[in-house]
Amino acid sequence: MRRMDIYIDTANLDEIRQAASLGVLDGVTTNPSLVSKEGNVQFHDHLRAICELVPGPVSAEVVATDHDQMVTEAEQLAQIADNIVIKVPCTVDGLRACKSLSDQGIRTNMTLCFQPMQALFVAKAGAFLVSPFVGRVDDISGDGMELISQIRQIYDNYGFSTKILSASIRHPTHVVQSAMLGADVATIPFKVIGQLMNHPLTDIGLERFLADWKKVH
Ligand code: E4P
Repeated sequence: MRRMDIYIDTANLDEIRQAASLGVLDGVTTNPSLVSKEGNVQFHDHLRAICELVPGPVSAEVVATDHDQMVTEAEQLAQIADNIVIKVPCTVDGLRACKSLSDQGIRTNMTLCFQPMQALFVAKAGAFLVSPFVGRVDDISGDGMELISQIRQIYDNYGFSTKILSASIRHPTHVVQSAMLGADVATIPFKVIGQLMNHPLTDIGLERFLADWKKVH
């Protein structure tokens, strides 16, 4: 049976704790920019703390750009916890690193994916996740959701098991569209997670129910 997993896109422990308390959180994605926002934290210790809060996949990104160094860095990150997934950019060296790591049984999240052929190649290389950045495509007047749809069709055509992780989500509609197009995962900023259960008619309706109840009780 298919399902859409919900990850939080942050390196902030408090946000992760609060999202985990909702009971629907399946994983976490971080990137160098998100980790930098947390100040001068010790990277490996910080990741260990995240992995203790969430038992599902926690993506940690390499900062090396050549194959050999990416693999070395990834092997070190993979030691931190069993649920670490290594984020590697969709470059030529990244593709080669994806294959090397997948062959060793280390799970990868192939990040910065902006066109469907990157997604096809990383799936062939054994990626666990591929991360199309829908918001950044929209930011330059492209159609991020079209990218999700193309990758979904290609993966379904050939039975690839790499999971499509809808990333760079900016608002609730991105999450709705990701779910409708069959993305396997959406990684969502804390603020947007908060918006997903909100509707003004829910609040107004609840207020009315409680007011009516008070009239007779
Ligand atoms: C995904 O894993 C990335 O960390 C993230 O979604 C990037 O989002 P941004 O475009 O808002 O930086």
